[in-house]
Amino acid sequence: MDRVPTGVKGLDELLGGGFPEGRCILVVGSPGSGKTTFAMQYLYYGALRGETGLYITLDERPEHVKQNLSSFNWGLDDLEKKGKLLVMDASGLRRVRPRSTETPHASALSPSPEGLGFHDLLRTITKVVDGEDVRRIAKAIISFFDALSDSGSTSIITSELKTSIMDRRLHLEELLSHGVVLLHSLMHEGNLVRAVQVEKMRGISHDTQIRPYQFGSTGIEVFPRDKVF
Ligand SMILES: Nc1ncnc2c1ncn2[C@@H]1O[C@H](COP(=O)(O)OP(=O)(O)O)[C@@H](O)[C@H]1O
Ligand SMILES: [Mg+2]
Repeated sequence: MDRVPTGVKGLDELLGGGFPEGRCILVVGSPGSGKTTFAMQYLYYGALRGETGLYITLDERPEHVKQNLSSFNWGLDDLEKKGKLLVMDASGLRRVRPRSTETPHASALSPSPEGLGFHDLLRTITKVVDGEDVRRIAKAIISFFDALSDSGSTSIITSELKTSIMDRRLHLEELLSHGVVLLHSLMHEGNLVRAVQVEKMRGISHDTQIRPYQFGSTGIEVFPRDKVF
């Protein structure tokens, strides 16, 4: 299977070269674990290699995302100007979501605002992916796995945990995704330890151990041979 290098230093070693091409990977972690950094770093690295990336945000304003990552000096504005990074603000979609979850039967009878919104978003994504030859997609929140996979891009989706990574339930998005990368935040002797684990990656052999990672000057860095404790 062809591999897509992730751009996260050290992680490709755990994966035997990178993500399996054309698949959709879920990145799971608690707030502050580095999901947004991971996602943008993946697109940034692709852009450097000439692969157009699409970042879809549902929970944060695009300007804020870029401001928060500015210390890594990835030159995201430049990449955007060159058309190598496309940023899609889909936050409007999120605002119509609660209504239809309160009335689960409505969607079965007629298209709910949510249904229309997601359908529109999906159509827009497909149009952009085809028109701009997008190779990498990053997006926060669930669903779309198969649609993103069908687009031929290699996508990552980030999902925030509400419980500890250790006692979380198996979520639907994990069953539907082709691979799962966990970003652990562990307490050890009073210190916060960050650790990454490739929990599942269909079709390739990979390291399944928990390996430490840090935020360095150029982004997230994984130490593929180190043990956490
Ligand atoms: N330049 C940096 N140097 C060190 N740590 C950073 C830097 N930028 C972000 N971080 C760390 O990353 C965290 C936020 O990362 P982010 O990718 O936004 O996480 P998430 O999307 O999972 O909430 C911050 O709380 C901070 O601890
Ligand atoms: Mg985030």
